[in-house]
Amino acid sequence: MAGRLAGKRIILTGGVNNIGLDAVRSFLREGAKVVVGDIDAVRGEQVSAELGEDLHFVPVDVTSEDSVASFIAQGTDWLGGLDGLCQNAGLQRSGSVTTFDADNWDALFAVNSRAHFFGAKHAVPHLRKSGKGSIVNTASLAGQRGGPGMTAYSASKGAVIAFGTALAVELAPDNIRVNTICPGWVDTAFNQPAIDFMGGRATQDEVVKAIVPMGRQGMPEEIAPLFVYLVSDESAYMTAQAITIDGGVYN
Ligand SMILES: NC(=O)c1ccc[n+]([C@@H]2O[C@H](COP(=O)([O-])OP(=O)(O)OC[C@H]3O[C@@H](n4cnc5c(N)ncnc54)[C@H](O)[C@@H]3O)[C@@H](O)[C@H]2O)c1
Repeated sequence: MAGRLAGKRIILTGGVNNIGLDAVRSFLREGAKVVVGDIDAVRGEQVSAELGEDLHFVPVDVTSEDSVASFIAQGTDWLGGLDGLCQNAGLQRSGSVTTFDADNWDALFAVNSRAHFFGAKHAVPHLRKSGKGSIVNTASLAGQRGGPGMTAYSASKGAVIAFGTALAVELAPDNIRVNTICPGWVDTAFNQPAIDFMGGRATQDEVVKAIVPMGRQGMPEEIAPLFVYLVSDESAYMTAQAITIDGGVYN
């Protein structure tokens, strides 16, 4: 039986660990060809060796427009075109607003926000050639709701949501859809700066129990099905949405 993504050519950033890697595994299971980009080239080569011939790894630093442009060019060459762009690379830094410094603010915005602009800028011409396409950006529940120590991270993720809705309206006439995934707490090492700011894992567990109606964190494999749905034609009439997947926090 053909997979839900049979024939789809997908590029994904931040795909060698956790949420991105589970999305990549799901894309491959559903019959897509996938180009993965990440700054972690060592891990990228491991993933490439593990996941087989329908996956190609290209190192990229999403904070550099030249690097993103070259990554998209190499990726689309290897794929022979493009149907979907998923932007998942992300950075987490936490701190009180009174002690947080401008370099950390800029670092968060470079990876979490500005990179989405670079990716769209260089991928859209290829999606236009395909006659339709799907862009899936990764924001966060933190872009919709605040929390202590999260001002900069929340602002950088809120920008992704706003960017996605504007981009969706701009690209709708080209039949290119843009949606944004907003995960809540997902149990990965990515959150260590936030955990440290909260006072450790035990405190984080208490907070999660108190604020998440389902009483637990999500797992990367619980986010992956949303990526599959949004890059597939099953979501053909869905665009300009920020979809939260967080155990019920945002209600
Ligand atoms: N884990 C959570 O609780 C959570 C919650 C909401 C949103 N998110 C978002 O989901 C995404 C994935 O999170 P994760 O938990 O899997 O984290 P992760 O750290 O495992 O994955 C992020 C990936 O981005 C890559 N990356 C970082 N900087 C880069 C750069 N400059 N260029 C290219 N690649 C770069 C990292 O190497 C890593 O592979 C992130 O965008 C994150 O903000 C995570």
